[in-house]
Amino acid sequence: MSDTIVILDFGSQYTQLIARRVRELRVYCEILPHDAPREAITRLKPRGIILSGGPNSVYDPGAPSLPLFLLDLGLPLLGICYGMQLLAYHLGGRVEKPTVREYGHATVHIDRAESLFSNLPSPISVWMSHGDQIIALPQGFVPLAHSETCPFAAMADPAHRIYALQFHPEVVHTPQGLDILRNFLFDVCGCAGDWTPAAFIAAAIEQIRARVGSARILCALSGGVDSTVAAALVGRAVGERLVCVFVDHGLLRAGEARAVNQVFQERLGLEIVTVDAQGRFVAKLRGVTDPEQKRKIIGAEFIRVFEETARAVATDTPVRFLAQGTLYPDVIESRGPERQAAARIKTHHNVGGLPEDLQFDLVEPLRYLFKDEVRAVGLELGLPKEIVYRQPFPGPGLAVRILGEVTEERLAILRAADAVVREEIDRCESEVWQYFAVLTPLKTVGVMGDGRTYDHVVAVRAVTSADGMTADWARLPYDVLARISSRLVNEVRGVNRVVYDITSKPPSTIEWE
Ligand code: XMP
Repeated sequence: MSDTIVILDFGSQYTQLIARRVRELRVYCEILPHDAPREAITRLKPRGIILSGGPNSVYDPGAPSLPLFLLDLGLPLLGICYGMQLLAYHLGGRVEKPTVREYGHATVHIDRAESLFSNLPSPISVWMSHGDQIIALPQGFVPLAHSETCPFAAMADPAHRIYALQFHPEVVHTPQGLDILRNFLFDVCGCAGDWTPAAFIAAAIEQIRARVGSARILCALSGGVDSTVAAALVGRAVGERLVCVFVDHGLLRAGEARAVNQVFQERLGLEIVTVDAQGRFVAKLRGVTDPEQKRKIIGAEFIRVFEETARAVATDTPVRFLAQGTLYPDVIESRGPERQAAARIKTHHNVGGLPEDLQFDLVEPLRYLFKDEVRAVGLELGLPKEIVYRQPFPGPGLAVRILGEVTEERLAILRAADAVVREEIDRCESEVWQYFAVLTPLKTVGVMGDGRTYDHVVAVRAVTSADGMTADWARLPYDVLARISSRLVNEVRGVNRVVYDITSKPPSTIEWE
């Protein structure tokens, strides 16, 4: 078992980023809510605990307080921003609201080039974002660094291995931040830094085997990276007792069903049950034009098909488990009401995300991983790069890229158009995160040869993004756009006009529905 660090979340927008950085340093960590009970923390046998920042002042009524049992555990602590103020406040220091909030770049002079700051130059550039600050240290603490406006930019009680930073080491605007975290993890906590994809896979296989015993496991494949990596991992653990189900709902891109089959059967040696449900979905969508309605119909039908398949593949050995590709951000986001999105923009139907009332126990081997870690695990498992770096594709598939009614004819047009867009953008060097065609409900007049046409308008969507939460339209080279446009009009029957979507997210979304 690798070393573990616990990160207590006091509500900072950067908490996940702290976890990312710790893991970049090859140390396993988990984020727990700030009021997690003692046993939830000690169960993980952590080597150290990081207290995140947060939006509160320690003087706010109802502000999260320092769990005092942390001080009895005898483990190294690192408080960041609000985490530092909490330590100072509860240990007898003085915390005050300065007249101005400090926000942005700051220069910090190191007073003691040891522990957190060993082997660092001075001064260093850091990112500050705080209201309150500490004006008197608690007993036993020494100053480690200061800035012009902040007398205690870092403090430590070395005897008790308690450290704290007023600035944020986890953001890129603190260039030496990773070094500071490295010093904490390796020098203070004594972590080994041996948490690698291979180590993760070995541990996950052991856990899956221990959990499922001799039962069979069902896994819904979407063709996306998460469900593929989850299936490959579970397949490694239980071999033929894994039953992968791929529902072809007829809303897939050109060549998709074949590609998924190929990867699983030929590359991974895993059998997959492909359910041809093409007609069913299009039939249910007849006459439906409302985007939310489409999503709901597809989600419900998917569950029905999946349940039927689960019954059809039943043998004497019961199928008790369902493997899913749930990732860590989903787990964190769905934790408390304060972390849930206020408004539902779209009903996301992820075919890897079936409801729990399907009466299976869930096996979620990726539930503590971030997307890039899943990709690293996928590569380590020998999955092809095309799968591992696949662009996201919505569960409801092409249905949410056809505005208006979904018909076989319109699906055929969009599928052909989408293949052209993907082929051309795949070929260019641009860093595009996601790219596809959208079939609009518009028809316009054109001229081809000597004749008038009255045909469909296809929109091209190509965005840059880090995580899909925000996005900008990709500045594709004009010659790429020109090639896409001329190929679409020439090669896809029924299309006589092409437009390029130049809106960012927000205010738009990436998908059109
Ligand atoms: P939007 O359109 O909300 O999309 O900006 C953000 C990202 O999520 C993908 N997306 C989905 N993924 N099931 C999924 O698994 C869905 O129902 C779904 N809808 C949108 C979208 O392609 C983009 O990457």
